[in-house]
Amino acid sequence: MTLPQTDQPRSIAEFAESSADLIERLQHAGGAYPASPSFSAYAGYSWFRDGAFIADGMSSYGRIGSAERFFDWCSVVLDARSGQLEAIVAAARAGHPLPDAAMLPTRFMFDGTAGDDEWWDFQLDGYGTWLWAVGEHARRHGTDAARWSRAIGLSVDYLVSSWRRPCFDWWEEHAMHVHVSTLGCIAAGLREAIALGVLDAGREAAAADAEAAILELMHTDGLADGHLSKWLGSRAVDASLASVVGLLGVVPGDSEPGRATIAAIERELTVDGGVHRYVDDTFYGGGQWPLLSCMLGIAEVRSGNRDRARELLDWAVATAGADGALPEQVGRHLLAPERVDEWVERWGPVAQPLLWSHAMVIRLAVELATADAGASEAEARA
Ligand code: BGC
Repeated sequence: MTLPQTDQPRSIAEFAESSADLIERLQHAGGAYPASPSFSAYAGYSWFRDGAFIADGMSSYGRIGSAERFFDWCSVVLDARSGQLEAIVAAARAGHPLPDAAMLPTRFMFDGTAGDDEWWDFQLDGYGTWLWAVGEHARRHGTDAARWSRAIGLSVDYLVSSWRRPCFDWWEEHAMHVHVSTLGCIAAGLREAIALGVLDAGREAAAADAEAAILELMHTDGLADGHLSKWLGSRAVDASLASVVGLLGVVPGDSEPGRATIAAIERELTVDGGVHRYVDDTFYGGGQWPLLSCMLGIAEVRSGNRDRARELLDWAVATAGADGALPEQVGRHLLAPERVDEWVERWGPVAQPLLWSHAMVIRLAVELATADAGASEAEARA
Protein backbone atom coordinates (compact mmCIF):
# COMPACT_ATOMS: atom_id res chain seq x y z
CA MET A 1 0.00 0.00 0.00
CA THR A 2 1.04 3.55 -0.47
CA LEU A 3 -0.32 6.05 2.00
CA PRO A 4 -3.37 7.98 0.76
CA GLN A 5 -2.24 10.96 -1.34
CA THR A 6 -2.40 13.96 0.96
CA ASP A 7 0.12 16.54 2.01
CA GLN A 8 2.05 13.90 3.97
CA PRO A 9 5.74 14.66 3.54
CA ARG A 10 7.51 12.31 1.18
CA SER A 11 10.05 11.42 3.82
CA ILE A 12 7.34 10.01 6.12
CA ALA A 13 5.85 7.93 3.31
CA GLU A 14 9.28 6.57 2.43
CA PHE A 15 10.06 5.86 6.07
CA ALA A 16 6.80 3.94 6.48
CA GLU A 17 7.56 1.87 3.39
CA SER A 18 11.08 0.99 4.50
CA SER A 19 9.76 0.19 7.99
CA ALA A 20 7.21 -2.25 6.57
CA ASP A 21 9.97 -3.84 4.47
CA LEU A 22 12.21 -4.15 7.51
CA ILE A 23 9.46 -5.80 9.57
CA GLU A 24 8.61 -8.22 6.79
CA ARG A 25 12.26 -9.09 6.25
CA LEU A 26 12.76 -9.84 9.94
CA GLN A 27 9.50 -11.77 10.44
CA HIS A 28 10.24 -15.40 11.21
CA ALA A 29 9.10 -17.96 8.62
CA GLY A 30 6.58 -19.32 11.14
CA GLY A 31 4.99 -15.87 11.54
CA ALA A 32 6.55 -14.58 14.77
CA TYR A 33 7.79 -11.01 14.83
CA PRO A 34 11.07 -10.69 16.71
CA ALA A 35 10.91 -7.81 19.21
CA SER A 36 14.43 -6.79 18.23
CA PRO A 37 16.79 -9.03 16.27
CA SER A 38 20.02 -7.90 17.87
CA PHE A 39 19.27 -6.79 21.43
CA SER A 40 20.74 -9.27 23.89
CA ALA A 41 17.70 -9.64 26.16
CA TYR A 42 15.09 -9.84 23.40
CA ALA A 43 16.80 -11.75 20.57
CA GLY A 44 15.00 -14.94 19.66
CA TYR A 45 11.72 -13.96 21.33
CA SER A 46 8.35 -12.66 20.16
CA TRP A 47 5.85 -10.97 22.46
CA PHE A 48 2.09 -11.13 21.94
CA ARG A 49 1.95 -7.43 22.95
CA ASP A 50 4.60 -6.13 20.53
CA GLY A 51 3.49 -8.59 17.87
CA ALA A 52 -0.16 -7.57 18.00
CA PHE A 53 0.69 -3.90 17.53
CA ILE A 54 3.15 -4.79 14.78
CA ALA A 55 0.52 -6.92 13.02
CA ASP A 56 -1.98 -4.08 13.28
CA GLY A 57 0.52 -1.64 11.79
CA MET A 58 1.25 -4.04 8.94
CA SER A 59 -2.44 -4.75 8.39
CA SER A 60 -3.26 -1.04 8.28
CA TYR A 61 -0.54 -0.59 5.68
CA GLY A 62 -1.90 -3.35 3.47
CA ARG A 63 0.69 -6.00 4.34
CA ILE A 64 -2.12 -8.49 4.83
CA GLY A 65 -0.08 -11.67 4.50
CA SER A 66 2.42 -10.60 7.12
CA ALA A 67 -0.29 -9.80 9.68
CA GLU A 68 -2.07 -13.08 9.00
CA ARG A 69 1.13 -15.07 9.37
CA PHE A 70 1.48 -13.57 12.84
CA PHE A 71 -2.11 -14.52 13.73
CA ASP A 72 -1.41 -18.05 12.45
CA TRP A 73 1.61 -18.19 14.73
CA CYS A 74 -0.43 -17.00 17.73
CA SER A 75 -2.98 -19.71 16.99
CA VAL A 76 -0.33 -22.41 16.83
CA VAL A 77 1.16 -21.21 20.14
CA LEU A 78 -2.24 -21.18 21.87
CA ASP A 79 -3.46 -24.47 20.41
CA ALA A 80 -0.30 -26.15 21.66
CA ARG A 81 -1.14 -24.88 25.15
CA SER A 82 -4.81 -25.77 25.17
CA GLY A 83 -4.29 -28.26 28.02
CA GLN A 84 -2.57 -25.66 30.20
CA LEU A 85 -5.24 -23.10 29.32
CA GLU A 86 -8.08 -25.43 30.17
CA ALA A 87 -6.47 -26.25 33.52
CA ILE A 88 -6.08 -22.53 34.33
CA VAL A 89 -9.70 -21.83 33.43
CA ALA A 90 -11.06 -24.87 35.31
CA ALA A 91 -9.12 -23.95 38.47
CA ALA A 92 -10.34 -20.35 38.34
CA ARG A 93 -13.94 -21.47 37.84
CA ALA A 94 -13.63 -23.82 40.79
CA GLY A 95 -12.50 -20.89 42.94
CA HIS A 96 -8.88 -22.08 43.31
CA PRO A 97 -6.93 -20.03 40.76
CA LEU A 98 -3.52 -21.38 39.83
CA PRO A 99 -0.42 -19.44 40.96
CA ASP A 100 1.17 -16.84 38.66
CA ALA A 101 3.92 -19.28 37.71
CA ALA A 102 1.32 -21.59 36.15
CA MET A 103 -0.14 -18.85 33.93
CA LEU A 104 0.83 -18.33 30.28
CA PRO A 105 4.21 -16.79 29.43
CA THR A 106 4.58 -13.23 28.19
CA ARG A 107 6.89 -14.03 25.30
CA PHE A 108 7.72 -17.08 23.24
CA MET A 109 10.57 -18.32 21.14
CA PHE A 110 9.82 -18.38 17.42
CA ASP A 111 9.07 -22.11 17.58
CA GLY A 112 6.36 -21.38 20.16
CA THR A 113 8.20 -22.75 23.16
CA ALA A 114 8.69 -20.60 26.26
CA GLY A 115 12.51 -20.64 26.20
CA ASP A 116 14.81 -21.13 29.19
CA ASP A 117 15.56 -17.52 30.06
CA GLU A 118 13.98 -16.07 33.17
CA TRP A 119 11.41 -13.38 32.40
CA TRP A 120 8.77 -11.30 34.14
CA ASP A 121 6.08 -13.72 33.15
CA PHE A 122 2.41 -13.49 33.71
CA GLN A 123 1.15 -10.51 31.81
CA LEU A 124 -2.42 -10.59 30.53
CA ASP A 125 -2.46 -7.68 28.07
CA GLY A 126 -1.00 -9.55 25.07
CA TYR A 127 -3.82 -12.07 25.09
CA GLY A 128 -6.21 -9.15 24.65
CA THR A 129 -4.15 -7.22 22.11
CA TRP A 130 -3.83 -10.16 19.73
CA LEU A 131 -7.64 -10.59 19.73
CA TRP A 132 -8.01 -6.86 19.16
CA ALA A 133 -5.56 -6.95 16.24
CA VAL A 134 -7.42 -9.87 14.61
CA GLY A 135 -10.69 -7.96 14.98
CA GLU A 136 -9.27 -4.79 13.44
CA HIS A 137 -7.75 -6.79 10.62
CA ALA A 138 -10.94 -8.69 9.85
CA ARG A 139 -13.01 -5.50 9.82
CA ARG A 140 -10.49 -3.68 7.64
CA HIS A 141 -9.99 -6.40 5.04
CA GLY A 142 -13.19 -8.44 5.28
CA THR A 143 -11.21 -11.47 6.44
CA ASP A 144 -12.97 -14.57 7.74
CA ALA A 145 -11.48 -15.28 11.17
CA ALA A 146 -12.75 -18.89 11.28
CA ARG A 147 -9.26 -20.32 10.97
CA TRP A 148 -8.25 -18.68 14.26
CA SER A 149 -11.51 -19.44 16.06
CA ARG A 150 -10.18 -22.16 18.38
CA ALA A 151 -7.35 -19.93 19.61
CA ILE A 152 -9.74 -16.99 19.92
CA GLY A 153 -12.06 -19.09 22.10
CA LEU A 154 -9.17 -20.25 24.29
CA SER A 155 -7.99 -16.66 24.72
CA VAL A 156 -11.47 -15.48 25.66
CA ASP A 157 -11.78 -18.22 28.30
CA TYR A 158 -8.36 -17.27 29.70
CA LEU A 159 -9.18 -13.56 29.90
CA VAL A 160 -12.70 -14.04 31.26
CA SER A 161 -11.38 -16.31 34.01
CA SER A 162 -8.37 -14.20 34.97
CA TRP A 163 -8.84 -10.51 34.11
CA ARG A 164 -9.20 -9.42 37.74
CA ARG A 165 -5.77 -10.76 38.70
CA PRO A 166 -2.83 -8.44 39.35
CA CYS A 167 -0.01 -9.09 36.88
CA PHE A 168 3.07 -7.44 35.38
CA ASP A 169 2.26 -4.42 33.21
CA TRP A 170 3.37 -3.44 29.69
CA TRP A 171 6.76 -2.56 31.15
CA GLU A 172 7.06 -5.91 32.91
CA GLU A 173 6.95 -4.27 36.32
CA HIS A 174 4.71 -3.81 39.37
CA ALA A 175 3.20 -7.29 39.43
CA MET A 176 1.20 -6.55 42.59
CA HIS A 177 -1.23 -4.21 40.82
CA VAL A 178 -4.11 -4.33 38.37
CA HIS A 179 -2.98 -2.05 35.56
CA VAL A 180 -5.49 0.11 33.76
CA SER A 181 -3.82 -0.24 30.36
CA THR A 182 -3.82 -4.03 30.82
CA LEU A 183 -7.55 -3.83 31.53
CA GLY A 184 -7.96 -1.69 28.40
CA CYS A 185 -6.17 -4.30 26.28
CA ILE A 186 -8.38 -7.06 27.68
CA ALA A 187 -11.58 -5.05 27.13
CA ALA A 188 -10.55 -4.29 23.54
CA GLY A 189 -9.75 -7.95 22.92
CA LEU A 190 -13.05 -9.20 24.31
CA ARG A 191 -14.98 -6.58 22.33
CA GLU A 192 -13.28 -7.67 19.11
CA ALA A 193 -13.66 -11.37 19.84
CA ILE A 194 -17.40 -10.81 20.13
CA ALA A 195 -17.50 -8.72 16.95
CA LEU A 196 -15.71 -11.46 15.01
CA GLY A 197 -18.76 -13.68 15.44
CA VAL A 198 -16.78 -16.86 16.04
CA LEU A 199 -17.74 -17.44 19.71
CA ASP A 200 -20.48 -19.80 20.86
CA ALA A 201 -23.36 -18.21 22.78
CA GLY A 202 -22.01 -19.04 26.25
CA ARG A 203 -18.57 -17.61 25.54
CA GLU A 204 -20.06 -14.57 23.90
CA ALA A 205 -22.21 -13.79 26.94
CA ALA A 206 -19.28 -14.34 29.32
CA ALA A 207 -17.07 -12.08 27.20
CA ALA A 208 -19.73 -9.36 27.14
CA ASP A 209 -20.19 -9.52 30.93
CA ALA A 210 -16.44 -9.34 31.54
CA GLU A 211 -16.02 -6.45 29.11
CA ALA A 212 -18.80 -4.49 30.81
CA ALA A 213 -17.34 -5.15 34.28
CA ILE A 214 -13.89 -4.04 33.12
CA LEU A 215 -15.22 -0.82 31.62
CA GLU A 216 -17.10 -0.08 34.83
CA LEU A 217 -13.96 -0.61 36.90
CA MET A 218 -11.86 1.54 34.57
CA HIS A 219 -14.34 4.39 34.90
CA THR A 220 -14.42 4.18 38.70
CA ASP A 221 -11.28 2.91 40.47
CA GLY A 222 -9.28 3.38 37.26
CA LEU A 223 -9.67 7.16 37.22
CA ALA A 224 -7.69 9.76 39.17
CA ASP A 225 -8.32 13.48 38.77
CA GLY A 226 -10.47 12.62 35.76
CA HIS A 227 -7.76 10.75 33.81
CA LEU A 228 -7.05 7.04 33.54
CA SER A 229 -4.51 5.99 36.11
CA LYS A 230 -1.47 3.74 35.99
CA TRP A 231 -3.04 1.07 38.16
CA LEU A 232 -6.26 0.78 40.11
CA GLY A 233 -5.98 3.16 43.03
CA SER A 234 -2.91 5.00 41.70
CA ARG A 235 -2.90 8.76 41.04
CA ALA A 236 -0.16 8.55 38.42
CA VAL A 237 -0.52 8.38 34.67
CA ASP A 238 1.32 6.00 32.33
CA ALA A 239 1.91 6.64 28.64
CA SER A 240 0.63 3.16 27.74
CA LEU A 241 -2.81 4.60 28.53
CA ALA A 242 -2.62 6.57 25.28
CA SER A 243 -3.39 3.27 23.53
CA VAL A 244 -6.57 2.81 25.56
CA VAL A 245 -7.75 6.25 24.49
CA GLY A 246 -6.44 6.03 20.94
CA LEU A 247 -5.67 2.88 19.03
CA LEU A 248 -7.63 0.40 21.15
CA GLY A 249 -10.69 2.66 21.19
CA VAL A 250 -11.75 1.61 24.68
CA VAL A 251 -12.16 5.13 26.08
CA PRO A 252 -12.97 7.52 23.24
CA GLY A 253 -10.32 10.16 22.56
CA ASP A 254 -12.97 12.88 22.49
CA SER A 255 -14.64 11.81 25.78
CA GLU A 256 -13.91 13.58 29.06
CA PRO A 257 -11.63 10.88 30.50
CA GLY A 258 -10.05 10.49 27.05
CA ARG A 259 -9.14 14.17 26.83
CA ALA A 260 -8.00 14.26 30.46
CA THR A 261 -5.72 11.25 29.87
CA ILE A 262 -4.16 12.82 26.79
CA ALA A 263 -3.67 16.09 28.70
CA ALA A 264 -2.03 14.28 31.65
CA ILE A 265 0.37 12.39 29.36
CA GLU A 266 1.24 15.62 27.52
CA ARG A 267 1.72 17.55 30.77
CA GLU A 268 3.53 15.00 32.91
CA LEU A 269 5.36 12.70 30.51
CA THR A 270 6.08 14.60 27.31
CA VAL A 271 8.97 16.91 26.44
CA ASP A 272 8.87 18.26 22.88
CA GLY A 273 7.50 15.27 20.97
CA GLY A 274 9.18 12.65 23.14
CA VAL A 275 7.15 10.63 25.61
CA HIS A 276 8.38 8.96 28.81
CA ARG A 277 6.74 5.77 30.06
CA TYR A 278 5.98 7.10 33.58
CA VAL A 279 7.60 9.54 35.96
CA ASP A 280 9.47 7.02 38.09
CA ASP A 281 10.96 5.14 35.15
CA THR A 282 14.63 4.17 35.57
CA PHE A 283 15.06 1.63 32.72
CA TYR A 284 18.11 2.87 30.76
CA GLY A 285 17.71 6.07 32.75
CA GLY A 286 14.08 6.60 31.76
CA GLY A 287 14.35 8.11 28.28
CA GLN A 288 11.72 8.91 25.64
CA TRP A 289 10.04 6.17 23.60
CA PRO A 290 9.20 6.84 19.92
CA LEU A 291 6.50 4.17 19.98
CA LEU A 292 4.79 6.11 22.77
CA SER A 293 4.98 9.36 20.79
CA CYS A 294 3.09 7.48 18.08
CA MET A 295 0.56 6.02 20.54
CA LEU A 296 -0.06 9.53 21.84
CA GLY A 297 -0.24 10.82 18.27
CA ILE A 298 -3.04 8.38 17.43
CA ALA A 299 -4.93 9.47 20.56
CA GLU A 300 -4.45 13.09 19.48
CA VAL A 301 -5.87 12.35 16.02
CA ARG A 302 -8.86 10.68 17.62
CA SER A 303 -9.45 13.67 19.86
CA GLY A 304 -9.33 15.94 16.80
CA ASN A 305 -5.77 17.27 17.06
CA ARG A 306 -4.04 16.33 13.82
CA ASP A 307 -1.40 19.05 14.05
CA ARG A 308 -0.09 17.80 17.36
CA ALA A 309 -0.10 14.25 15.98
CA ARG A 310 2.07 15.40 13.09
CA GLU A 311 4.62 16.88 15.50
CA LEU A 312 4.72 13.63 17.44
CA LEU A 313 5.19 11.61 14.25
CA ASP A 314 8.02 13.86 13.07
CA TRP A 315 9.69 13.54 16.44
CA ALA A 316 9.46 9.74 16.37
CA VAL A 317 10.85 9.44 12.83
CA ALA A 318 13.74 11.74 13.73
CA THR A 319 14.95 9.25 16.37
CA ALA A 320 16.03 6.81 13.63
CA GLY A 321 19.73 6.10 13.36
CA ALA A 322 21.75 6.72 10.19
CA ASP A 323 20.78 3.22 9.02
CA GLY A 324 17.08 4.04 9.44
CA ALA A 325 16.62 1.82 12.51
CA LEU A 326 14.33 3.12 15.25
CA PRO A 327 15.34 2.56 18.87
CA GLU A 328 13.23 1.48 21.80
CA GLN A 329 14.07 4.74 23.55
CA VAL A 330 16.40 7.73 23.23
CA GLY A 331 18.42 9.05 26.12
CA ARG A 332 17.11 12.61 26.06
CA HIS A 333 15.63 14.41 29.08
CA LEU A 334 16.50 11.36 31.15
CA LEU A 335 14.43 10.97 34.29
CA ALA A 336 17.16 9.02 36.11
CA PRO A 337 20.50 9.62 34.33
CA GLU A 338 22.40 7.84 37.09
CA ARG A 339 20.67 4.58 36.15
CA VAL A 340 21.87 4.31 32.52
CA ASP A 341 25.16 2.53 33.10
CA GLU A 342 23.77 -0.40 35.04
CA TRP A 343 21.50 -1.32 32.11
CA VAL A 344 24.21 -0.85 29.51
CA GLU A 345 26.45 -3.13 31.55
CA ARG A 346 23.67 -5.69 31.94
CA TRP A 347 22.20 -5.80 28.42
CA GLY A 348 24.33 -3.54 26.16
CA PRO A 349 23.07 -0.46 24.29
CA VAL A 350 19.32 0.24 23.91
CA ALA A 351 17.43 -2.08 21.50
CA GLN A 352 17.65 -0.82 17.90
CA PRO A 353 15.86 -1.60 15.69
CA LEU A 354 12.79 -2.26 17.79
CA LEU A 355 10.10 -3.56 15.44
CA TRP A 356 7.28 -2.21 17.58
CA SER A 357 8.70 1.33 17.15
CA HIS A 358 8.68 0.91 13.36
CA ALA A 359 5.15 -0.45 13.41
CA MET A 360 3.86 2.48 15.44
CA VAL A 361 5.34 4.98 12.99
CA ILE A 362 3.53 3.14 10.20
CA ARG A 363 0.30 3.05 12.18
CA LEU A 364 0.35 6.76 13.06
CA ALA A 365 1.27 7.68 9.46
CA VAL A 366 -1.75 5.69 8.23
CA GLU A 367 -3.99 7.21 10.91
CA LEU A 368 -2.96 10.73 9.97
CA ALA A 369 -3.15 10.20 6.22
CA THR A 370 -6.63 8.71 6.59
CA ALA A 371 -7.79 11.55 8.85
CA ASP A 372 -6.30 14.15 6.47
CA ALA A 373 -8.06 12.53 3.50
CA GLY A 374 -11.34 12.48 5.45
CA ALA A 375 -10.96 16.16 6.33
CA SER A 376 -10.22 17.12 2.70
CA GLU A 377 -13.29 15.23 1.53
CA ALA A 378 -15.44 16.94 4.14
CA GLU A 379 -14.09 20.33 3.06
CA ALA A 380 -14.78 19.54 -0.59
CA ARG A 381 -18.37 18.61 0.24
CA ALA A 382 -18.94 21.77 2.31
C1 BGC B 1 9.25 -3.59 27.35
C2 BGC B 1 8.06 -4.35 26.86
C3 BGC B 1 8.30 -4.97 25.50
C4 BGC B 1 9.63 -5.71 25.46
C5 BGC B 1 9.97 -6.17 24.07
C6 BGC B 1 10.49 -4.44 27.26
O1 BGC B 1 11.59 -3.70 27.67
O2 BGC B 1 9.07 -3.19 28.70
O3 BGC B 1 6.93 -3.52 26.77
O4 BGC B 1 7.26 -5.84 25.21
O5 BGC B 1 10.64 -4.87 25.92
O6 BGC B 1 10.00 -5.11 23.16
